[in-house]
Amino acid sequence: MNINWYPGHMKKTKESIKKNLQLVDIIYELLDARIPISSENPDIDSIVGDKPRIVILNKSDLSSHEGNMKWQQYYQNKGISSVLVDSLNNRGLNEVINISNELMKEKKLKLEKKGIKNKPIRAMIVGIPNVGKSTLINSLSGRKGAKTGNRPGITKGNQWIKLKGNLELLDTPGILWPKFEDESVGLNLAFTGAIKDELLDIESLAFKLVERLVETYPQFLEDRYNINVHEKTTYEIVENIAQNRGCIGKGQEIDFTKVSNIIIDDFRKGRIGRITLELP
Ligand code: G4P
Repeated sequence: MNINWYPGHMKKTKESIKKNLQLVDIIYELLDARIPISSENPDIDSIVGDKPRIVILNKSDLSSHEGNMKWQQYYQNKGISSVLVDSLNNRGLNEVINISNELMKEKKLKLEKKGIKNKPIRAMIVGIPNVGKSTLINSLSGRKGAKTGNRPGITKGNQWIKLKGNLELLDTPGILWPKFEDESVGLNLAFTGAIKDELLDIESLAFKLVERLVETYPQFLEDRYNINVHEKTTYEIVENIAQNRGCIGKGQEIDFTKVSNIIIDDFRKGRIGRITLELP
């Protein structure tokens, strides 16, 4: 599935993240709120160990409100702190800072008893590609800018970005690999754009997405494309969408590549609606 990850590469990445882990007090595990399970790294527990962790459900502007609530409840039941974040629009950032301070309270008190005051809390972000690590680093630090050190295996000198609330964030995120084996996970990653399109056939992907949306969010499809999905095959639905969107070639045949790109892009940008693909 994701050809960029080899066992040797994974081992190296793991080691480099573990090294950086020693420098920080707290881990921000970034997940895609639309697919919290599929966007999780399979080895995350062993990588993070017992370091305090906050699950950040990013892109929560694209996932359904109901789904967001269910996932928060799910993590709460597991005793894991979670925050809904929209890194593009700076939503949820204060909560990340507040929870970090809350989780570090005891350690802080201990240090104060030893006479160490105002030691900053150090944090780092980890997550699979495209989950929004750079965007979050930029929005937390209030800067706009290019991706920094955001390539697996490449470590630059560590730089600490000062945040509000006496927090410091490592400017290089830990890039983790996604799960490979499970086909449904692969599809979720592809729908959301976590896997590069070149690796997939866009038409099959769009058909699979439409199939999924007919099951879970039929009304969204009908409203977005002004169609009726009732008792129609996926093929007929895609055909209808193509007709309504003018995806017709010279010989009046349906341009399936064009319509597929439209559907996938609409989904990824949230234009079909706020959609959660995975529930607890
Ligand atoms: P990464 O460092 O983890 O690889 O992810 P990055 O920040 O580059 O973000 C990947 C894409 O996700 C970007 O879209 C970014 O704008 C978008 N994104 C990040 N956080 C959020 C969020 O909270 N909400 C929404 N709606 N989008 C978010 P892009 O520039 O269009 O890149 P691409 O999708 O074309 O790769």
